[in-house]
Amino acid sequence: MKIVVIQGPNLNMLGVRDQNIYGPMKLEDIHAQMKAFAEQNNLEIEFFQSNLEGEIVDRIQECMGDADGIIINPAAYTHTSIAIRDALAAVKIPAIEVHLSNIHAREEFRHTSLTAPVCAGQIVGMGPFGYHLAMVGMTQILNEVAAMKKAQQAQQQAAQQ
Ligand code: DQA
Repeated sequence: MKIVVIQGPNLNMLGVRDQNIYGPMKLEDIHAQMKAFAEQNNLEIEFFQSNLEGEIVDRIQECMGDADGIIINPAAYTHTSIAIRDALAAVKIPAIEVHLSNIHAREEFRHTSLTAPVCAGQIVGMGPFGYHLAMVGMTQILNEVAAMKKAQQAQQQAAQQ
């Protein structure tokens, strides 16, 4: 099972940028923790960060037929990008949206997420721990999908007999 983690614009600046909002942790440290969780749970994991909307759309499309789950923080594109929303909807891979800060408690323009409605769930306001919660949530989703597929296969086999 493979999870792709997609990070949007300015998240490469974590640890430097607005520490009072996003805290002191760097993106590579968050990714190191996610990698450790993945290894402990026999999951493959890949990380991608871009400041460009089209590159994020391309990376989501590349997940088709390759990844089983997507964890995404679209950052500022959360509030503006129909293109990223459409890409997430098109690939039909379960996705979890993460925000370090509580976007609902910040400026009004951050209250709307264009991407959350096409995700399985949204985690906000938990800081870097939100990515760990997303890993736990995604593991649960992947287990449920695998169990469903197995049950469907058993049903099909029984129908053929
Ligand atoms: C963010 C919230 C967005 O509103 C903001 O533009 C970001 C980071 C978060 O993780 O809290 O860049 O996605």
